Amino acid sequence: MESLDSIRDEWLRQITATASLDALEQIRVAALGRNGQVTGLLKGLGSLAPEERKARGAAVNKLKDEIEQALGEAKARLDQASLDRRLAEERIDMTLPVKAENDGRIHPISQTIDELIAIFGEMGFTVAEGPHIEDDFYNFTALNIPAEHPARQEQDTFYLMGQAGTRPEARKVLRTHTSPVQIRTMQAQKPPIRIIVPGRTFRSDHDATHSPMFHQVEGLVIEKHIHMGHLKGCLIEFCRAFFDIDDLPVRFRPSYFPFTEPSAEVDIGCSREGGGLKIGAGADWLEILGSGMVHPKVLANCGVDPAEYQGFAFGMGIERIAMLKYGIPDLRTFYESDLRWLRHYGFAALDQPSLITGAR
Ligand code: PHE
Repeated sequence: MESLDSIRDEWLRQITATASLDALEQIRVAALGRNGQVTGLLKGLGSLAPEERKARGAAVNKLKDEIEQALGEAKARLDQASLDRRLAEERIDMTLPVKAENDGRIHPISQTIDELIAIFGEMGFTVAEGPHIEDDFYNFTALNIPAEHPARQEQDTFYLMGQAGTRPEARKVLRTHTSPVQIRTMQAQKPPIRIIVPGRTFRSDHDATHSPMFHQVEGLVIEKHIHMGHLKGCLIEFCRAFFDIDDLPVRFRPSYFPFTEPSAEVDIGCSREGGGLKIGAGADWLEILGSGMVHPKVLANCGVDPAEYQGFAFGMGIERIAMLKYGIPDLRTFYESDLRWLRHYGFAALDQPSLITGAR
């Protein structure tokens, strides 16, 4: 009978000497495959006398285990070597310039949000966020929006289903504006507060100029001695930086929001001569945002003393200002995921907005 020791030594020698996974696989087949040598030894056990079979069987099985273990170790060694080789070969040079032309594009909404953050960031604002599913309390009540206010009607607000027995103030809605984040921020931190809140908002409206999901940016400043002059200065500065027009006319028109007093809508100058819209000095005005001094009741609702602190807030539609700045004619195209549209209106990955580059 063949010596199992010399068989084992020969296989182990071959296995340790292998330099490739292919060669290793050939060894495995030659030893343990259907017609392999060790498989043959196992098959041969059947023809032995019972008393011989027991000792020989244990020895052959041990041989098989040893070869399997050596194969496993060799495979791990070769896998690691091939990984090391790949890591060395495929090293990335981080200093090479990005190939932007075949790569993805930044969606105009993301770009516009980055621009807003760049501009307001320079003025000391930080970014705050809040949930899309809000309590009625944060979306309406705390903002001084009364129970009978038309915005609460089913046809404007998405109410979540299955809330039959819920207290009115705890009912869940998809937030209809970013203003609830004003409340959450004032509850969570003490003034001074200077935040912008870019994010998604939802209203049950759908036509050529309204989408059930759209984006807004909210702004909130709460400090001592803040007055209407700060609101005007801040928003004039913003409009001129965003549209990159130093002498852009900006007009404040009295308006009404339940959560601000007084309230103002902000218009920018434009001209519609010859049919096309041009932003800048001209005979016409274009409304772009809502604003006002935070209502004392809203401050009090958040535990901020209106005798000590004042502030202003503003809100605007991100799609709207993006359409105006980049000449995008149709709101619906923002959400169609049409690559041709994105290649046309999108931005290169490294086109980072900053005030130095004119926010563009
Ligand atoms: N929340 C208002 C809207 O959605 C916008 C706004 C925000 C107005 C803050 C004034 C102050 O229309």
